[in-house]
Amino acid sequence: MPPLLGARELSRRFGGLVAVDKVSLAVEPLTVTALIGPNGAGKTTFFKMLAGELQPSSGDVFFRDKRITKLNVTRVAQLGIAKSFQITQIFPKLTVEENLLVPALAATRGSFRVDALIPLASAKGAHEISERVLQQIDLGDRRRMRASELSYGEKRRLELGLALATQPEVLLLDEPTAGMSPTERTAMVELLKELRKTVTIVIVEHDMDVVFGLADRVFVLQDGRPIAEGTPAEIRGHPKVQEAYLGTGGVA
Ligand SMILES: Nc1ncnc2c1ncn2[C@@H]1O[C@H](COP(=O)(O)OP(=O)(O)OP(=O)(O)O)[C@@H](O)[C@H]1O
Ligand SMILES: [Mg+2]
Repeated sequence: MPPLLGARELSRRFGGLVAVDKVSLAVEPLTVTALIGPNGAGKTTFFKMLAGELQPSSGDVFFRDKRITKLNVTRVAQLGIAKSFQITQIFPKLTVEENLLVPALAATRGSFRVDALIPLASAKGAHEISERVLQQIDLGDRRRMRASELSYGEKRRLELGLALATQPEVLLLDEPTAGMSPTERTAMVELLKELRKTVTIVIVEHDMDVVFGLADRVFVLQDGRPIAEGTPAEIRGHPKVQEAYLGTGGVA
């Protein structure tokens, strides 16, 4: 069986800088893979290539046994790989429920059209999706609130909900707990623990408690290169990882 999502010798250059240097990765279904490494290690660049947001300079991305390297972000999303949207992609004036209906409708129709907002109310499938996601992200009691009125932690959960509403098989999360208070962070970790039962997750995260609490496999990048890969226990004691994190707080 091929892995659900794979990268083979994926590289990306920006001018003279090699941001990601021949990184290979295999993600098995229904696992949580964490990608860690110091600032500037190439984590976000690698992620963007998996999501089809950024073209690799060389190497390939696979979804099951299909090579998806040249597909754009819309096509990759349609295959079932969703990257958590940024807050800026939340529509602030729409309600929480309406925000979820946009990607839910796109998932049921296969395309993203803003003018589709008008017949939204009649799209039964989309309503079912948004209802389920509202429960998953625990914003059921906020459904009629404008997104702009949500707290920061709630906005981040809604952002995750937008990705979930596309009904992905793989969820790519770039620092989902960044900027959160300890309480918000705990809520996000609990939510991810529920989600992992049904969705394969690849997560970039600086918070080591979050990483070690969630991940099955941890993958460490430094200066664009993979320096270690293993279980959380193996990574925690890995000398190269300790070294990479020296001066940036260490691995807890
Ligand atoms: N669009 C771009 N143009 C030029 N250089 C870029 C671009 N995007 C990223 N880089 C550079 O590539 C390297 C890797 O950046 P990247 O954002 O992938 O790191 P990261 O591991 O996500 O870091 P952080 O932990 O700070 O989010 C950095 O040196 C960065 O400055
Ligand atoms: Mg980054």
